[in-house]
Amino acid sequence: MKATAKAHTNIALIKYWGKRDEALILPTNSSLSLTLDGFFTTTTVDFQANLTRDQFMLDDEPVEGESYQRVSNFLDIIRTMAGKENLYATVHSKNDVPTAAGFASSASGFAALAAAGTKAIGMQLDNQELSRLTRQGSGSASRSIYGGFAEWEMGGKTDGSDSFAVPVAPAQHWDIRVAAVVLSSTVKKVSSRAGMKRTVETSPFYSGWIDSIPKDLREIKDAIKTKDFEKTGSIAEANCLKMHATTLAANPPFTYWHDTTMRVMQTVQEMREKGIPAYFTIDAGPNVKVLYLPEDEGKVKETLRTIPGVTDVILSKPGQGISYL
Ligand code: ADP
Ligand code: DP6
Ligand code: CO
Repeated sequence: MKATAKAHTNIALIKYWGKRDEALILPTNSSLSLTLDGFFTTTTVDFQANLTRDQFMLDDEPVEGESYQRVSNFLDIIRTMAGKENLYATVHSKNDVPTAAGFASSASGFAALAAAGTKAIGMQLDNQELSRLTRQGSGSASRSIYGGFAEWEMGGKTDGSDSFAVPVAPAQHWDIRVAAVVLSSTVKKVSSRAGMKRTVETSPFYSGWIDSIPKDLREIKDAIKTKDFEKTGSIAEANCLKMHATTLAANPPFTYWHDTTMRVMQTVQEMREKGIPAYFTIDAGPNVKVLYLPEDEGKVKETLRTIPGVTDVILSKPGQGISYL
């Protein structure tokens, strides 16, 4: 009863930012992302009859506390689905992505866990069922089931049955590139989960965020379909700024940005003034992702690397969905 799966992270172009149900992980808005081939998680789940509790090893270190509980609670859902409540597992996971630093490790992490866990316990789920399950580990992970562009449809039901991701366009549809600009790989002070909760509960900007999403989604899907890079990039950049603006108005206020984050944003806008189409987006963390076209790769990489405070620039193509090893 053992299986190994690999899943890539994704970068949200239209952000998921807020839950209407924290236990089931039901979002207050639909979101859209691009799966990245440069960052991924590989997870092996092994259910064994002799175990009395789950074990979770991340990058060869035993994990306890909150992260352990998240994994074990997620395995509970799988056990219940399979009708095998008393069967525990050892989980070995390897993150080829910095953990909890705003690189969406929870997305690749829970997508890989869902795929390996369900296969190991003997279930065969289609992508929609797998996405619905994965959502309950980490919301952004629901989109990492698919390669390329995926939309997580928020759904409207209280039981979550209509809240899962669907494919928008496969990785082969469009070769746009993403540079991950690394300034910090340290664990962020405010987790995605805590940050969105505080924002929903206290930010007076939150209603404006919600009202603006349907138009952003409609327009970016058109732009992706027609491969309109300027339109895709500018919608994504504006959506990112809007999300981060909601945190500044929360109580207590907070931001995921560092000084270098702003320097990178300015550099990207300057590149545009010089005629290089490049756009930024930022998840819940200080690091910036820059969207660009393959023909500008050399210039974009060089420009980003020389910004003071930038420690690394990792280039990524659109990535594939989950796979089994
Ligand atoms: P990130 O930006 O990395 O997604 P989050 O705050 O959303 O940051 O989530 C980080 C949490 O995701 C970790 O603290 C851990 O609980 C969980 N996580 C990360 N990687 C894995 C993994 N490979 N397997 C299971 N859970 C993971
Ligand atoms: C800003 O999926 O990490 O990256 O559902 O609580 O696990 P949980 O949160 P998570 O939130 C991601 C927030 C974001 C935007 C996005 O990926 O859509
Ligand atoms: Co996350």
